[in-house]
Amino acid sequence: MPSPEAAKGNAGGRAGATSRVFNFSPGPAMLPDEVMARVQEEFLNYGGLGASVIEISHRSKDFVAITEEAAALFRELVSLPEDYSVLFMHGGGRMQFAAVPLNLIARTSARKAAYVETGVFSATAIKDAGPYGKIEIVASGRSDKFVRIPDLSGVNLAPDTSYLHITTNNTAYGTRWNKFPETRDVPLVGDATSEILSRVMDYSKFGVVYAGLQKNLGPSGTAIVAVRKDLMQYALPETPPLLNYAVVNKGQSLVNTPSTFNIYFSLQVMRWMKSLGGVREVERRNNEKAQLLYDRLDHSSYYRPLADPAHRSTMNVTFDLPTPQATELFVKEANQEGLYALKGYRDVGGIRASIYNGMPLAGVQALVSFMREFERTHG
Ligand SMILES: Cc1ncc(COP(=O)(O)O)c(C=O)c1O
Repeated sequence: MPSPEAAKGNAGGRAGATSRVFNFSPGPAMLPDEVMARVQEEFLNYGGLGASVIEISHRSKDFVAITEEAAALFRELVSLPEDYSVLFMHGGGRMQFAAVPLNLIARTSARKAAYVETGVFSATAIKDAGPYGKIEIVASGRSDKFVRIPDLSGVNLAPDTSYLHITTNNTAYGTRWNKFPETRDVPLVGDATSEILSRVMDYSKFGVVYAGLQKNLGPSGTAIVAVRKDLMQYALPETPPLLNYAVVNKGQSLVNTPSTFNIYFSLQVMRWMKSLGGVREVERRNNEKAQLLYDRLDHSSYYRPLADPAHRSTMNVTFDLPTPQATELFVKEANQEGLYALKGYRDVGGIRASIYNGMPLAGVQALVSFMREFERTHG
């Protein structure tokens, strides 16, 4: 593995690259060089045990300590109130699309849940919840091609709504909720997969917040879930134990063998975040990176930013070029400059630069210079 310095190099994002590229992949995504190096360093011999962290029992005291520290550090980083639990669960982000209704839809006898459709993942969440109750789409950005978060001011949630589900950041469209809806007694559920730990969020406004790890926290396949404890009593009888919040909570996320590597990895990322100064500092860095890109877009008549300025994401920056040919060439030439995976989501087209916590400022600076040069030569 190259040193973090070498990683700032400009090798191409193609087979045969000799140093790390600036990887704008939407997920799995670029993780901090420092964390990657640390994981590599202790991979063969964790903590002087003479064995890798992936070779020890999930019930060993060393691994239980990792899981406990990861949950505690998450709690600390997001200032999670005492009446919430932190769980690690199998199945990444999407498994929660089923886990949420399985655990919460029976909170009221009406067995109905409200969803806001803000893009491809919220649409999948709506579909996956279908079998468990009455699912109502209370607002949708579909007619706007999801370039903005729909207005909820005219929406009155019936008190017998089991929960309201939102996707806090929309990975494919590059939009996010800046102000979360007030839901009074109806628990708010947030899919924060593409922005977890990227900005300060008031978790007390939510009943459940969940996220797959693979953008800001580590490898794919695992979700971190913050659940308010009083919401752990409503699981449908058919809920599989591994999807049941109460069961996973009681088993301290070690009901069966979890992805030990993922939990360990997320701990390393969170330690790194803490060393930087926590979520507030990470948010400051993310704002700086995103601002650089949006400034470039706003000062160009060649590029066209896709998201409504009032709802722009700091994690996924989407824009278009004048023609599909220009877009294709942009992706190709960027790749040759070591700016990797910029192609937009298939249903959206254009360019998407995913700039999660692990993307250094230098990566965004390199992209902005490339954009300037590309516009000068092709615009
Ligand atoms: C907002 C959001 N939710 C859910 C998912 C699905 O996550 P997974 O692939 O871990 O199931 C993704 C994946 O990119 C996502 O961006």
